Amino acid sequence: MEDGLIEIKGVTHSYSTQSGPLPVLKDLNISVPEGGFVAVVGPSGCGKSTLTRLIAGLMKPNAGDVKLHGEVVTSPRSSVGMAFQNPVLLEWRSILRNVLLPVEIVPTKMSRSQAEDRARRLLKLVGLQGFEDKRPSELSGGMRQRASLCRALIHQPEVLILDEPFGALDAFTREDLWQIMHRLRIEEPFTGILITHDLRESIFLADEVFVMSGRPAHTQFRLTVPKTDGPRELTQLYGHEAVEMLATLRHQIEIAQGRFPGEDKKVGI
Ligand SMILES: Nc1ncnc2c1ncn2[C@@H]1O[C@H](COP(=O)(O)OP(=O)(O)O)[C@@H](O)[C@H]1O
Ligand SMILES: [Mg+2]
Repeated sequence: MEDGLIEIKGVTHSYSTQSGPLPVLKDLNISVPEGGFVAVVGPSGCGKSTLTRLIAGLMKPNAGDVKLHGEVVTSPRSSVGMAFQNPVLLEWRSILRNVLLPVEIVPTKMSRSQAEDRARRLLKLVGLQGFEDKRPSELSGGMRQRASLCRALIHQPEVLILDEPFGALDAFTREDLWQIMHRLRIEEPFTGILITHDLRESIFLADEVFVMSGRPAHTQFRLTVPKTDGPRELTQLYGHEAVEMLATLRHQIEIAQGRFPGEDKKVGI
């Protein structure tokens, strides 16, 4: 098999804590092909955010490799964009200037006016045209999260890491954001990795879903979501195929949570 753009191979990581080492990841393997979009689900505390920090180059694993384009990641790079559950937007800056912030921090080939044009285009894509000059507090939670997605995309990152970005939103707002994600993926192609605890979200957005085991986490299960003709529709989530996938994933999460002792030894990839 050809190597993916993001290649996580045999990654093992522990934190040192006051009560000794805490093993978090153990021989984790995840591959994301160029242009692919992968979701990662797993029990709370199993090391999902740790995984995002390793991919972003904010930490190095104790063993194994995180590679982007075949190169071992050793430090943060501007070709990786990130968005989190609680978008940290600076209140004293307008929405437009919040989106432009990364360009001010990390050098780019874009001129100031090119960056501004791009920011305006991204804001329009996510339905925030007309809100460029507003302050973050004037926007709803869903709108702030849309602005933070634009900020994560301003550098035209090859890789977009999303760590539970829609977790704090109500169900309807979350579904709006899912559709916006589909639109962004078409207009602004990226290779994505989405951490989520929402199984419906994982199968609606991703091409593949990886289930992490309990801590120390390995890759317990992988589900390929069948391609649909044209964009996915929310109603497909109520169809037979989706319901079956959700039941499979739910069962795997229960195994990861240790509900069926011994089962986790039988599965694993
Ligand atoms: N910097 C750190 N130092 C020590 N322990 C940490 C640190 N960051 C996370 N942990 C611990 O590592 C485990 C995995 O954390 P995390 O990756 O945030 O899990 P998840 O995102 O899956 O909920 C948790 O038990 C957490 O308490
Ligand atoms: Mg987390």
